[in-house]
Amino acid sequence: MKIIMLGAPGAGKGTQAKMIAEKYGVPHISTGDIFRANIKNGTELGMEAKKYMDQGLLVPDELTVKILLDRVANEDCKNGYVLDGFPRTIPQAEVLDKALTELGDKIDYAIDVDVPDENIVKRMGGRRACLSCGATYHIEHVPPKSEGICDKCGQELVLRDDDKPETVKNRLNVYHEQTQPLIEFYTKKGVLKAVDGTVDMKDVFAAIVEILG
Ligand code: AP5
Ligand code: MG
Repeated sequence: MKIIMLGAPGAGKGTQAKMIAEKYGVPHISTGDIFRANIKNGTELGMEAKKYMDQGLLVPDELTVKILLDRVANEDCKNGYVLDGFPRTIPQAEVLDKALTELGDKIDYAIDVDVPDENIVKRMGGRRACLSCGATYHIEHVPPKSEGICDKCGQELVLRDDDKPETVKNRLNVYHEQTQPLIEFYTKKGVLKAVDGTVDMKDVFAAIVEILG
């Protein structure tokens, strides 16, 4: 089962992708998490990606596409995967489509987690992220057991650099300009499914399970 998560920054793509990965036994692949892990480890790729991410801009397609194609070629992706944050531009979607077509394969579902911009800005300030294992919390909706510490790996939780209100606004603009056109792209392919992302995260997940079966 090959799934793409679509939706604005903060819509809950990562939250839902992790639950899908667990229930259906496929890897959760987030290009944002891959970039953040590289930034944390001070790699060349991380340094390059950070220049764009801190401004709320997209990392150039050349860099992003290569990382993603390498990742999905891994053995653990044989039975499918859930992509979170990729594709984010039409050229990225086309590259993925071409790579899959060459393998006689295709995306099964593109799930759009729909949340209006007003809700997004409120959510982001409360998010806390673990840069070690990628777990995400929210100070009100999903607090960690002990404040500021990741339940899963015990590392310190941080407010992501790109979750500052000004940067969130840029990310939303970038989303509307460059990523939203993918909704039409996948609608045309007949694989788009939309869910209401404003309700409780368990209810969002129930709607997704209804679609995936
Ligand atoms: P990325 O890490 O993908 O960030 P994003 O798309 O901006 O999305 P977020 O991770 O911020 O939000 P999310 O939808 O995963 O929401 P979450 O589940 O955490 O990308 C970051 C940057 O990397 C990009 O800006 C770009 O620079 C670069 N990049 C990445 N991929 C790229 C690509 N393909 N091409 C080019 N550049 C790329 O939820 C948000 C918060 O809300 C959490 O606190 C959560 O607990 C809470 N929450 C979730 N669901 C609910 C709910 N139903 N009700 C209440 N609260 C909820
Ligand atoms: Mg995310």
